[in-house]
Amino acid sequence: MATNPTNIFIIDDEEPIRKVLNTHLSKEGFNVIQSSGGNPVFDALRANSFDIVISDLRMPEVNGTEILEFVKTNFDTVPVIMLTGFTDVSVAIDVLKKGAFDYLMKPVKKEDLMAAVRRAIGHRGLLVRNKELQTENAQYKSFLEQRVIERTKELNNKATELQKAYDLLKGMNLQFANALAETIEAKDHYTRGHCNRMKTLCAEMGRLIEMNGKDLETLEYAALLHDLGKIGVNESVLNKEGSLDNVESAHIKRHAEIGEKILLGVPLMDEVARIIAAHHENYDGTGYPKGLRGGEIPLSARLIAVADLFDAMRSDRPYRKGMPVEKIFSEMQRVSGTQLDPEMTNLFIAHKVYLTVEAVKE
Ligand SMILES: [Fe+2]
Repeated sequence: MATNPTNIFIIDDEEPIRKVLNTHLSKEGFNVIQSSGGNPVFDALRANSFDIVISDLRMPEVNGTEILEFVKTNFDTVPVIMLTGFTDVSVAIDVLKKGAFDYLMKPVKKEDLMAAVRRAIGHRGLLVRNKELQTENAQYKSFLEQRVIERTKELNNKATELQKAYDLLKGMNLQFANALAETIEAKDHYTRGHCNRMKTLCAEMGRLIEMNGKDLETLEYAALLHDLGKIGVNESVLNKEGSLDNVESAHIKRHAEIGEKILLGVPLMDEVARIIAAHHENYDGTGYPKGLRGGEIPLSARLIAVADLFDAMRSDRPYRKGMPVEKIFSEMQRVSGTQLDPEMTNLFIAHKVYLTVEAVKE
């Protein structure tokens, strides 16, 4: 805004005119700076602080148009009023086009001068305010941009932290699952390495049917921990040589549900629990615990059943050696459609999935 008193810079090569203007303006309380023009005028403009410029148009060394351009370039909120002789009207119009705020005819009447100056003061106020707003706007924009950069950085850091925490938890989960698998195997003497082989076999089958991401991970956990419920089965029954009586058989069958119970409620393990519960269901509905059939049995549980049968027959037992692959395949084909899902059985056989866990035995 124009300060009080308003500083007015008068430029005219004729001293009497400067004097008249000075008198009028000073009486009205304006602070007047004077220059007779010529090249020193530019230094004087640079050296002083002013709100309005009143400049003669026709001067011998530096004309008013040059002064107008200089002021517009260097002091863009300062209005310029041009003084012009009667014959200069067309030139005056030209300087208005070039950005002069107003022009006054010589000889200048006091009322005209004051009216033009008042209007220029008002205009100057608007220009200054406009510039302030532009500056504020630019500052605010840059502030916002900075905030966006900072927030993005914070969010990226948070995302990295979360990813690290997630990876850590995932690693811990796997370690716990492996520890549980070892616990199962420690209890069931015949099944050394079975849990990990199951994980490998099932993962391969999962990939063959284009399972991925979370589903594949869930399948791997379920395969690794499918016999988790054996923790709740008496060791004497579990490791009994020879056939089981009905009570013992019913007891051992409970491992499917016990496994489910152990995992239900463990974060992210609900689906694993559901699969484990169904790993002894038969395709034709004669399995346990629920007698589910076909598509009612989770796909992962059907995969596990195929791999489980293969690995059980392939492994050495105290009372028999592991069976040859061809013999196991024919047994699998025999129970395909009754105990096992035929499609998954074919997949296992056709792709020789067992090779993923076998150092060549034959
Ligand atoms: Fe089992």
